[in-house]
Amino acid sequence: MEDWIDYYDSTHTIYVSKRHRDLHFEIIAKDIIGCISSKDAVVLDYACGEALSAGKVADACGKLYLAEPAPGVRGRLIARFAPNTKIRVRSLDDLRKMAEKSVDLVVMNSVAQYMTPGELDSAFAVIRQLLKPGGRLVLGDILRPEVGMIRDIIALLRFALTHGFLRDALIGLISTALSDYRQLRARVGLQRYSEAEMVAKLAAAGFTASRAHFNIGHNPWRMTFVARHAFSPTD
Ligand SMILES: C[S@@+](CC[C@H](N)C(=O)[O-])C[C@H]1O[C@@H](n2cnc3c(N)ncnc32)[C@H](O)[C@@H]1O
Repeated sequence: MEDWIDYYDSTHTIYVSKRHRDLHFEIIAKDIIGCISSKDAVVLDYACGEALSAGKVADACGKLYLAEPAPGVRGRLIARFAPNTKIRVRSLDDLRKMAEKSVDLVVMNSVAQYMTPGELDSAFAVIRQLLKPGGRLVLGDILRPEVGMIRDIIALLRFALTHGFLRDALIGLISTALSDYRQLRARVGLQRYSEAEMVAKLAAAGFTASRAHFNIGHNPWRMTFVARHAFSPTD
């Protein structure tokens, strides 16, 4: 296994059970819907994963682009959402061919940690081109330098306790500890940013950004940012 895209294309144990996976995507969809400001909005979910509840997001907007780099995941998205005329599935390369200034809201949740800083800059450049003036990028689940894996484990166990899958969570944590995840986390690592670093990185990419008072998903120790075009005279 080379990288995190391969990992997410494999039969991994990040979701400890079907219930966990379903609940995860329901919460992500609810949080994305909370960011949509109009029924006509064009929304892009950047590296959306399985996006099991994307149908609900599509109901709340005009058009939903699901972009995913992992080819196996993308194949399932295409099959799953073929009947939904509001949903289009794209690779990340496809996004470079989309019309400029055509998207109202881009959500990139729980993705930046898997990218190198350079890959994230390239993604920001593509997203900035796609956003309409006044459009927003919501960047969720950013890991902070001072918050380690223990908080991830506590957040998962709390989530599991509240939703009745604690036993599966404990088994899942052991499976994950023994899996490719651990090796990848040690070898490739996860990128972490402080609040100031991420605001500065977004500013360098041409966005005005601030940290939101919530985080998308179940982990309150991670951060979400809302970013808008910082217009320059050449825009
Ligand atoms: C934890 S999942 C998040 C999926 C979804 N956004 C969510 O919130 O549930 C991580 C996603 O990042 C993608 N990914 C991993 N490494 C990446 C990279 N280097 N560049 C772009 N996407 C990557 C994976 O394919 C996967 O879809």
